[in-house]
Amino acid sequence: MEGQVIKNASDMPMIFKTISLLSLLLVLSLFLSPVAASDVSGKLISFSCSACHGTEGLLAQPGMPSLIGQDANKLTQLLLDFKYDRQSSTVMGRISKGFTDTELQSVALYFSRLKGGN
Ligand code: HEC
Repeated sequence: MEGQVIKNASDMPMIFKTISLLSLLLVLSLFLSPVAASDVSGKLISFSCSACHGTEGLLAQPGMPSLIGQDANKLTQLLLDFKYDRQSSTVMGRISKGFTDTELQSVALYFSRLKGGN
């Protein structure tokens, strides 16, 4: 009887350890899954670009580069170049510094997937 109690008691922490490890992995997977993160945050971030680049990356005003349908890697590279001052700019340097590299990659991917012809 006493042995039974001790056995159960020692089993419990193991279960808790397993559960907390699983929850930790679950929480981490939310941050570490690039595909899911890109789809959601890329679109959200794009809202802060639309004032100048137009809604959905279409030309908002003359002289403003259109972002839709451009190659994702090229867009990411442009944004990272602005962020790390490898490319001079009027505003994009300051704007891109407000985002992490991953966020810039996400928004680049979002714009690259949009189709033009409106
Ligand atoms: C305040 C207006 C403004 C906002 C907001 C803005 N941009 Fe820009 N963007 C510019 C201007 C102006 C340029 C030309 C480079 C420069 O002088 O900064 C540019 C250039 C770019 C380029 C280079 C395009 C090319 O083909 O050379 C990319 C990529 C870009 N922006 C992405 C973004 C993204 C992504 C956002 C949102 C996170 C954003 N921009 C928000 C004004 C803006």
